[in-house]
Order: sequence, then structure tokens, then C-alpha cells
Amino acid sequence: MDLFSQIEEPEREELKRLRKELEEANYKYYVLNMPTLSDREFDEKMHRLQALEAQFPDLFDPKSPTQHVGSDLEKPHPTSPQGEEKGRKAFETVKHKYPMLSLANSYSREEIEDWVRKLPSSAEIVCELKFDGLSISLWYEHGILVKALTRGDGVQGDDVIANIKTIPSIPWRIERDDVPDFFELRGEVLLPWERFEALNKEREEQEEPLFANPRNAASGTLKLQDPREVARRGLEAYLYYMLGDNLPGTTHYERLETAKQWGFHISDAIKVCHSVDEVMAYIAYWDTERKNLPVATDGIVLKVNNLAQQEELGFTAKTPRWAIAYKFPAEKQLTLLKEITYQVGRTGVVTPVANLEPVQLSGTIVQRATLHNEDFIKSLDIRPGDRVWVEKGGEIIPKIVGREKPTPSCSTDGHRQSDRAELFTLSREGDGFTFPTVCPECGTPLVRVEGEAAWRCPNEAGCPPQIKGKIEHFVSRKAMNIDGLGEETIDLFYQKGLLHNIADIYDLKLEDIAAQERLGEKSAQNMLAGIEASKQVPWARVLFALGIRMVGETTAKKIARVYNNIDTLQWATTEQLCAIEDVGPQIAENIVAYFNDMRNLEILERLRQAGLQFEGEAAEGPQSDKLAGMSIVISGTFAHHSRDEYKAMIEANGGKNVGSVSKKTSFILAGENMGPEKRKKAEDLGIKLLTEDEFLKML
Ligand code: IVH
Repeated sequence: MDLFSQIEEPEREELKRLRKELEEANYKYYVLNMPTLSDREFDEKMHRLQALEAQFPDLFDPKSPTQHVGSDLEKPHPTSPQGEEKGRKAFETVKHKYPMLSLANSYSREEIEDWVRKLPSSAEIVCELKFDGLSISLWYEHGILVKALTRGDGVQGDDVIANIKTIPSIPWRIERDDVPDFFELRGEVLLPWERFEALNKEREEQEEPLFANPRNAASGTLKLQDPREVARRGLEAYLYYMLGDNLPGTTHYERLETAKQWGFHISDAIKVCHSVDEVMAYIAYWDTERKNLPVATDGIVLKVNNLAQQEELGFTAKTPRWAIAYKFPAEKQLTLLKEITYQVGRTGVVTPVANLEPVQLSGTIVQRATLHNEDFIKSLDIRPGDRVWVEKGGEIIPKIVGREKPTPSCSTDGHRQSDRAELFTLSREGDGFTFPTVCPECGTPLVRVEGEAAWRCPNEAGCPPQIKGKIEHFVSRKAMNIDGLGEETIDLFYQKGLLHNIADIYDLKLEDIAAQERLGEKSAQNMLAGIEASKQVPWARVLFALGIRMVGETTAKKIARVYNNIDTLQWATTEQLCAIEDVGPQIAENIVAYFNDMRNLEILERLRQAGLQFEGEAAEGPQSDKLAGMSIVISGTFAHHSRDEYKAMIEANGGKNVGSVSKKTSFILAGENMGPEKRKKAEDLGIKLLTEDEFLKML
């Protein structure tokens, strides 16, 4: 190796590392809905990567994250940490008519000035709010909404039309003479703050993982398989970009006005500006005013108004040159970390919580923030008594991002920055932070499972928050749905010795309940009626209610479909359980461990005596070998069953569900809005299409 390459080596390594890091960050942001980097960190890394790629053109790679936008295409992968993905491809992937690009970001007046300098001097600039949701592309043919595509990887997206049709402000049909044969409208799908907060509250009650912000919630919602649930959650959309041939108007602004007349939901906060001063005034106004909006925004978007000028400016590989985003700075405050306390959850996980000197941040007072786990605290090197930075940016949940460090700029004493930092570290008292070794609630020594970040209290049957948490989960809406038995009542009954486990619920007596302060005979009767009604709750929900670790609502349903009574489930081996869709070795082991614990068996016996449903219906749909040897493609959307259900039916009848049409395809189960490419291929190969009714009749 010559001297030059030796010098260059660390930078070449850095380039490769950054590519990997950004690729991963894209995946976590777009697919898992669990962002790991802030937008700013992401942009900084991306800029550094661009600079390195310019320095080493021999390392050019068309797959580099600098060359394409992040992808939200649903990939077949295990259930996401948000528990919303189904692990199977469920939407049809469709190629975009025009690539769906991203926007370059800017953070300062200088960066905006740099951009403006490259525009024609006559250019008008349209300022708009930058909505913080996810982009959607709506296709209208002869005035009818025919597709709604996610951005996907920018080249092709998932068609989520059934979910988009739940948004009341999106017209399904436009009854006007002046709409062109085809046009496309792009915009942002959002979950309004109010809906987001209600959804998270519900999830908290169900002990389901919370969404970090409305964007993640909207993204998780748009990929759900159940439009009724999507409708219940209440998505909203703002549209901001019209494309197509022979469209009216010569400016972007006129097109949005037209779209408004056609009945589309266009934001009122759109302004045509003629100078950077005007743009900065718009930014200053909306940086505060946006706090009163019903939806999340994270910046503004500047667009060249004139469409001919837009065309002239064109695009880079990832972004238009005629538009740029300006991102609002995340709000950050310094405050005192008074104390770290510890919370024990229903599964025994011990979560450290920062108790802060109350501080005002983005409109709310922050006094607590999760510290996640031991590693998180150690990585920030924080301890009680430190002044810490609290941030609330796109993440609605406040987070601690670091601690106050000495300011290097005032180094007048001759120390270099690193020396000063070291001196500062040495001057902090104590040996640093240590995580408790015993449960703060019951004193049991904590355990840390290898490979997991969490410390756990293993005293499942004796640790008060675990006992109460299991009962709360059992009675919750999606489980046994027992009204009148809320958190406070459970706590009271636990204190009074009336409730120690879920089976005790069915031994509660009217006089015991009515004897408690705050609870009269009327509420006691209501509670008992709720308890009685819970005996009719179907087997799948009972299984979910038992609270077996990692067995969520969907997994419980899938297990109950295969094991339609508790007796067969009790004897299932890990291998057998792993054969169930969505069940991996960890979940299987948790189920086996649950049934190996005598205390659980006693509780189950008491629940059985009480009359709970420990048996359900056999697997849905007919079972036969009618489809043996057949390869069947499913395409489009269906009215009677979900795609997952059709897939299960095909398999239950001996057939195989395959993804793409080929010579070997036996037939296509064709729903509404089947993809045009699949239809053409089927025609070319002479493959039969069956409607869902024909298919059901056939079985
Ligand atoms: S225009 C060719 N206008 O920001 C780019 N995008 O970070 C067309 N966004 O992918 C996009 N508000 O999802 C545009 N008023 C607005 C926007 C907006 C939010 C999103 C959009 C885009 C992302 C880029």
C-alpha cells in the first residue's frame, strides 16, 4: 500500500461505515417506525458521506443511501417492535408514474440564501408548512380515486387505498367536467394530535408499546390490514403537489387553488414570497403559530412557483432542485436531574425514570422522562445532581439527550478542550451510576437475561406491581373487558387482601365489594355483572388476557386458531408452537414455561371452574385437499375475507400461495383493483382469474 492510500484508509473506512449506518437508520425509520437518529444527526452524517463520496469517486455505489430515498416498502420480516406489522406482504406494490423523491433539508437563513442564489432571479417562492406525517400519492382516473401509494422506495410504493378511503377529506370521486382523465395528487397522511394522544392512552392501558410521535402512529396505522381499525383511529391528509399531463395553470400556487376547488384538503398556510426576508418572516411566524395546529409540522417547504422554471431546474437523484425544506430547531432545555426512580412493570421489567426540576418545553411542563435501561444511562454518563438537556422535537415523548458539559470556547487557561473535559469529569463526585441490584418494590435480587438490556424482577407471584399489572391487563378492554374494575379499584382490593391473582376476581362477593369506601351496592352490582359477562369472552381473548410474556392480541388469535382449546396448547412443544405464524422460539419458550409453572396451573384450574371459555371454534374455513398441488396468486382487495385469511384458506386446502404470476400459476384469486401488470401477465399466459365468490364456492 502506498503512503497516500495509507493516509486515506481511515476515511475510506468511515465512508463504508456511514453507508451502513445510514442504511440501517433508514430501515428503522421507514420500516420499523422506530427512529434511532434525529433528523439533524441523519443529515449531518449524510453530508459527511456525500463529501467522502466526492473525495473517493472510485468507491461510487448506486446503492449508497446518497443515491436513493429511504424505503417504507413492507418487507416480509418478523413482527416489528411496534407489534403492528404482520410479517407477510399484504399490499400490492405498484410502480410510481413519477418517482417520489425527498427534499433537501436546510437549517439556517444562510442555507436558504445559498439555495435561492441558484434560482433564476425572477423566481417566486411558495412557502408551505412541512407536515410531519408520511407521503401519499393519490391517482385519479376519470375523477375516480383508483390508487393510493405510499412512497415506498421512491420508485414503487404499496397500494393502501382501502385505508386511505377511511379519510373523510379525501374524495373517492370528483363530479366535475373540468378534471383531466388522469392526475395525481400528493400529500401527507397524518394522525392529528388529539387522535394520537387518545390512541397512546389506549395503548398504555393495554400495555402495548407507545408510538413515539404522530408520524410513527400514522405510519403504523396506514400499514394495518383492517380498514375498520384505521377508520377508528382517524387519519387526516393535507395535499400539496399536483402532477399529470394537460393540467390547468402555469404555477404551483394555481394548481393548489384548482385542487382546492375540486374539493381537496389544502392547507391555508400557503404564501407566495419574493425575498428571503419574506421567507424568514413566514418561518418566524409559523415556528410559534404551528403549536396551535391540529397536526404535527416539523418545518416549512420552499418551492419555486413557476412550473416552467421548476422544469428547467429539474432534479438530482434524490431531490428536486426547485424545492427545499427548512427544519424547525428541536426545543431543548437544561434542567436538574433530581433523582432516578425505578418502575416495575407487569412483566417485571425495571425501568429507570428521571425525575427532573420541572421545565417548560414545547408547550408542556416536563418533569419526568424515561431513561430506558442501564446502558442508556451509562452511555449518557448522567447521575442525580447533573444538569441535563431535555429535548422534545419530533418525538412527543421528552428525552434526555446529554448532560451539561463545560464550554470549550472560554478556554483562556491554556487547556485544550479534551483536557478541560477530563478535568470536568474528574471533578464530578462519586463513582458514577450503579443500577439497583434488588427490586425496589419487593427486594428480590434482579436478573438480567443475556442479550436483553432490561433488568427484571423474577418474583412474578409476589411482587406487588407485577401482581396488580397482571390483573389490570386481564380486565382490560381488549382482554376480558371487565368494566368497573380499574387501576384504583384493583389497587384497593389488593391492599384489602381481596385480589392476589386473576382467579380471585371470580371469587369476589357482593358484600365484600360493597363494603369498600367509594363503592356502593350499585357499582358492586355493575362490577359483578361485568365479571359474569366476561365468562363469555372467546378463547383467543382469554389466552391474550392470561398475560403470557410476548403473547399479544394478534399472536394469541393465531395460536387460538391452531390450538382451539387450552388442553392441547398446554402440551404443545416449542417446536410445534414455532410452526404457528408469528410465533418464534422466544414466544414458544414463554408459553411452555407458563404451563410448566404449578402456580399458573392452579390459577387456570380455578378459572376453568369459574366457567371461562377455554375452548374455541376450530380453524376458520373449510379443510380439504381440494387445492392440492396448485399454485395460487392473490391480487387486489377483497370484500369477504382479508388476504391473510385467503392465504390461510389456500394452505388449509392443500394449495400454495405464491407472489408472482408465472406459467406454473394455477389461477389468480382476483379482488377489486387488481394490479394492471399482473392482469396483463395473466392474460398473456392465459391464466384464469377467479373472483372471491367463485373461489369460495369452489371450496
Ligand atoms: S413537496 C418532490 N410539500 O416532506 C418533493 N413535501 O422530507 C415533493 N412534506 O417526502 C414534496 N409537507 O412527505 C412537499 N408541503 C409539503 C410537504 C412535504 C411535508 C414531506 C413529503 C416529502 C418529505 C421530504
